Amino acid sequence: MYTLHCLLPIFFISFIICDTDVTNKHHDTKEIFEIFRDVSKKCPDITHLYNLTSKSVEGRSLGVIVISKYPTEHKLLIPEFKYVGNMHGNEVTGRELLLQLMEYLCEEYNKGDKTVSWLIDNTRIHLMPSMNPDGWERANKFKKAGHYDWTTGRANSHNVDLNRGFPKVDNIVFSHEQGKNNHISYNLPSDAEPEVKAMVKWITQNPFVLSANLHNGDLVANYPYDLARNGKVQHEYTACPDDTNFQYLAMSYSKNHADMSNPNRELCQGGDTFPDGITNGADWYSVSGGMQDFNYLASNCFEITLELGCDKFPPAEALKKSWEDNQNALVAYMLQSHIGVKGIVEDGEGNPILDATIHVKGINHDITTTADGEYWRLLVDGDYTITASKEGYDDESKQITVNNAGLKEAQRVDFTLTESNDIPQNLKLESNEELSDLKKKILELYQQRMSNNILN
Ligand SMILES: *[C@@H]1O[C@H](CO)[C@@H](O)[C@H](O)[C@H]1NC(C)=O
Ligand SMILES: [Zn+2]
Repeated sequence: MYTLHCLLPIFFISFIICDTDVTNKHHDTKEIFEIFRDVSKKCPDITHLYNLTSKSVEGRSLGVIVISKYPTEHKLLIPEFKYVGNMHGNEVTGRELLLQLMEYLCEEYNKGDKTVSWLIDNTRIHLMPSMNPDGWERANKFKKAGHYDWTTGRANSHNVDLNRGFPKVDNIVFSHEQGKNNHISYNLPSDAEPEVKAMVKWITQNPFVLSANLHNGDLVANYPYDLARNGKVQHEYTACPDDTNFQYLAMSYSKNHADMSNPNRELCQGGDTFPDGITNGADWYSVSGGMQDFNYLASNCFEITLELGCDKFPPAEALKKSWEDNQNALVAYMLQSHIGVKGIVEDGEGNPILDATIHVKGINHDITTTADGEYWRLLVDGDYTITASKEGYDDESKQITVNNAGLKEAQRVDFTLTESNDIPQNLKLESNEELSDLKKKILELYQQRMSNNILN
């Protein structure tokens, strides 16, 4: 790692200069951006750097590196993936893992590793090491002063827990249980936290397909819903319509992690046992206003929450082991962006249809199409009936079989919708023209009749 620095003349104290191995230390905000720049220097063709449009309370940038064959912009039918670290500022494993991951992806791509190259050629990966840089600075200072507790640095600088600060879309869904279960309209208050505002915009304005939010405090992959349906209890399995798909996604992480799904692992202090290393969020403990359920209910993105270790701020020496434990899981999970089906919905003239709905029979959670008519529908292996629909067009349904085995893109299933023959609710312009032609003809006939009458 970081051989670049080591090329400096030998009379520099080389062990200090070379000691930039990202697995060996905790990195502050400035160092994160340095690593971004180093990685993009080493892999200029597959990287792109950007910051979210608003900053943290204390003015720190929420930085992202994109790693993809198409780094600078979305490419038709290429799924967008994201990892978000350090939302709780004192939970730091994810932050360091993502720095390690960007290094790793860049190096393996340059070496031609088959899986990593395929992933980068077919996916747009966004890595955000820290969603709460202010909290991290506080936690780090506290830790350096030799203190330890469970919460210092967890919240942002307004003392708001960011994983409770998202629009409470679950409540809307639970109160209209038979109604719409996707793209819920929500109210983002003007005094919402700047970090939340930035994330909401990011989540809803990009066609993300899959995501994970990286925490510490236990060792488990947690999936929606996070909020218990019964508002009066703290623990209640609350399945979302994609329960089967989410269990599979969570297991794709836990089973590829060195220890997460191991039934004999040492439990965290006061921690629970989690069969297969996964848990329904609300079954573990109910969370309102979380980011995971917001992704699922307000956008097309499926997000899980990863708890990456008992110790929230482990010593730097433990980070190398963390990387080794998580490396396969981090890659395996990104590959899940390619399960199920994807495709384009267009009209009879080949124009993409925006906001068409993709419905899977038996799953009450629809995906919608982008401005280019694209959709991605994550699904586990099985037989499905998929229906594309859009107001003003006839629905189209297809029977498909999903088989996700192997390193491959999601099966392509396109739809061509024809304009519906039902009597439209509003007559269209062309019909109005036809109507006025008809009116003119009737008037002519009438006038002929009248003049005939007069002559008679
Ligand atoms: C993002 O913010 C950091 C820190 O403020 C800055 O150094 C960097 O240049 C910014 N990156 C971009 C792409 O604007
Ligand atoms: Zn957390």
